[in-house]
Amino acid sequence: MILVIGATAHFGRRTVEVLASGGRRVRALSRTPELAGLPEGVEVVHGDLVRPETLGPALDGVTEMFLVLPHGVDVQPLLDRVRQAGVRQIVFLSSGAVAEGGDPQSDVIAAHHARVEREIRATGVAWTFLRLYVPAIGSSSRAMRFQGGDVVRGPHAAVAAAVAHERDVAEVAAAVLGEAEHFGRIYEPTGPRTPTQTEHVEQVVLLGRALVRELSFEEVAEQITQQQLSQFMDADFVGALLELMVGTAGKPALAVNDTVAKLTGHPARPFAQWVADHLADFR
Ligand SMILES: NC(=O)c1ccc[n+]([C@@H]2O[C@H](COP(=O)([O-])OP(=O)(O)OC[C@H]3O[C@@H](n4cnc5c(N)ncnc54)[C@H](OP(=O)(O)O)[C@@H]3O)[C@@H](O)[C@H]2O)c1
Repeated sequence: MILVIGATAHFGRRTVEVLASGGRRVRALSRTPELAGLPEGVEVVHGDLVRPETLGPALDGVTEMFLVLPHGVDVQPLLDRVRQAGVRQIVFLSSGAVAEGGDPQSDVIAAHHARVEREIRATGVAWTFLRLYVPAIGSSSRAMRFQGGDVVRGPHAAVAAAVAHERDVAEVAAAVLGEAEHFGRIYEPTGPRTPTQTEHVEQVVLLGRALVRELSFEEVAEQITQQQLSQFMDADFVGALLELMVGTAGKPALAVNDTVAKLTGHPARPFAQWVADHLADFR
C-alpha cells in the first residue's frame, strides 16, 4: 500500500491519480477526506500531520510513502511513526535549490528541504528524493494573474526556468515508488526545453495563443509580489523564491535533463501542454 501525503494538492493529487490508474494500491491522507474528490478506489484516510497521534490508521500496512510536505509542518513526528510502521521507502518531493553537500545552504528554501532530507536519511528507511526546481504550476499561477484585462502582471520578465509539468512529476514519483533500484537516488525532473531568458513573457504569449487573446506581460516591482505572497507564506520563503527566480536572469539556462523521459518512457511535457491542461483555470 502506498500512502500519499499532500494528496489533495497539486503534486500529490496527480500522483494519486497516476498510481490509481495504473492499478496500484494507494491511500491518500487528508484532514478532510469528505472534500478530497479523489478517484474511485482510492482509500482516503483522515489524519493531521500536526496531530501525529491521528496518523495510525493512515500508516497501517503502508509499504511506501510519497511525501509532499505542506509548508510549515514539522516532519519529525511523522517520520517517527513511519519508522515504527515498517514503511520500506520514502519518496520525498524536495527542492532543486538544495545543493548537495552545501552546508550552510544558500537560502531558507534550500535549508528547509536539506534539513528534511537529512531527517529522512536518519530514519534508516530507504529513500528517493525528487528535487524539483520550478514547477509550471508555481511559476505560472503566481506570475500570471489577470489583474488588468489582457495585461498579466508579475515580477521579473527576465528569468529562465525549465518548468516541469506536475503530471510528469507525478509519473516520476509513481515510477520510483516501490522500486529498489531507485533507493538512495536523487532525481531532478525538469521540463523538456532549455529555457529562454524571458520565460515569463513567453509563457504569457503561449497562454494568450491558447485563450485566443492578445495577452502581454508587464513587470511589476518585486515588493508587490512579495506583499501578495506573504499573505500565504512565510516572508523569508517568499524572499527566497523571488531570489531563486531572479538568480536565473542573465545566466546560462539551467540544465535541462532527461529524468522524465528516462523514468516515464516519454519526453517531458512542454509548457504549451500545461497551458492546454489548465486552460479552464484562466477563463
Ligand atoms: N516551487 C514549488 O512550488 C516547489 C518546488 C519544489 C518542491 N515543492 C514542495 O511542494 C510542497 C507544496 O506542495 P503542494 O503545493 O502540492 O501542497 P501545499 O499546498 O503546500 O499543501 C496542501 C496539501 O497538504 C495537505 N496538508 C496541509 N496541512 C496538512 C496537515 N496538517 N496534515 C495533513 N495534511 C496536510 C493538504 O491536505 P488536506 O487539506 O486535504 O488535509 C493538501 O493536500 C512544498 O512545501 C515543497 O516542499 C514545491
